[in-house]
Amino acid sequence: MLREATLGLVRQGYVVSVVARRQARLDALVQAAAGLPGAIHPIALDYRETGTLTARLAEARDRHGPFELAVVWIHSTAPAAPLAVARLVGTPDRPGRYFHVLGSATADPSRPDPDRQAAFAALPNIRYREVILGFVREGGRSRWLTNEEISAGVLAAVAADQPRYIVGTVDPWHLRP
Ligand SMILES: NC(=O)c1ccc[n+]([C@@H]2O[C@H](COP(=O)([O-])OP(=O)(O)OC[C@H]3O[C@@H](n4cnc5c(N)ncnc54)[C@H](OP(=O)(O)O)[C@@H]3O)[C@@H](O)[C@H]2O)c1
Repeated sequence: MLREATLGLVRQGYVVSVVARRQARLDALVQAAAGLPGAIHPIALDYRETGTLTARLAEARDRHGPFELAVVWIHSTAPAAPLAVARLVGTPDRPGRYFHVLGSATADPSRPDPDRQAAFAALPNIRYREVILGFVREGGRSRWLTNEEISAGVLAAVAADQPRYIVGTVDPWHLRP
C-alpha cells in the first residue's frame, strides 16, 4: 500500500531503503524507480527477525549515511521491530523524523496507548510522528482508504510534519466501516 509513497520519496531525491520479504517485488520497485532523482535500496528480509533487521539497516546507514526519514508500517506480528528501527534513525545531534503508520484502531477512544508514545518520545535521535489510517465517509456510507489514498496521505503527512496526522477521518469513531 506504500509503494506509491515510496516512489514519491524517490522522486523527491531520497535514497529509500525498502524492507520486504519478496525479492521479485523489490526488484520491480527498483525498476520503477529507474531514471528518478533518488533510488531504491532493496533489503529482502523478514522484519520479525529483529537481529537481521537491525544488522541490514545498519549496513544501509553505513553505506548511504544516517537515515533522515523513516516511514514505518510494521504488523503486530513483529512487536520489537518498530523500536529497533527507531534506534537506527538519525543521531542525537541531528534527529531523524520517524513516521509511524498505524491502523485506525490506534484512534479508538476506548484504547489509549500512552506507553507506545512514551517509548518513542524517550529516544533522543528521532522526532516521533503518528500517521493514523482512518476511513472515508461519502454518500452516507463509510469505507476504508484505498492504497492510493494511503500513499498520498502518508506523503502529505511527511510534508505537514505534525506529531499526529489522520489520513481520511476517524471521527465519529462509531461510523468506521
Ligand atoms: N484504515 C485503513 O484504511 C487501513 C489500515 C490498515 C491497513 N489497511 C489495508 O491493509 C492493507 C495492507 O496491505 P499491503 O498490501 O500493504 O500489505 P502488507 O501485508 O501490510 O505489506 C506491506 C509491505 O510490508 C511487507 N511485509 C509484510 N510483512 C513483512 C515481514 N514480516 N517482513 C518484511 N516485510 C513484510 C510486504 O512485502 P512482502 O509480503 O514481500 O514481505 C509489503 O511490501 C492495504 O490494502 C490497506 O488498504 C487499511
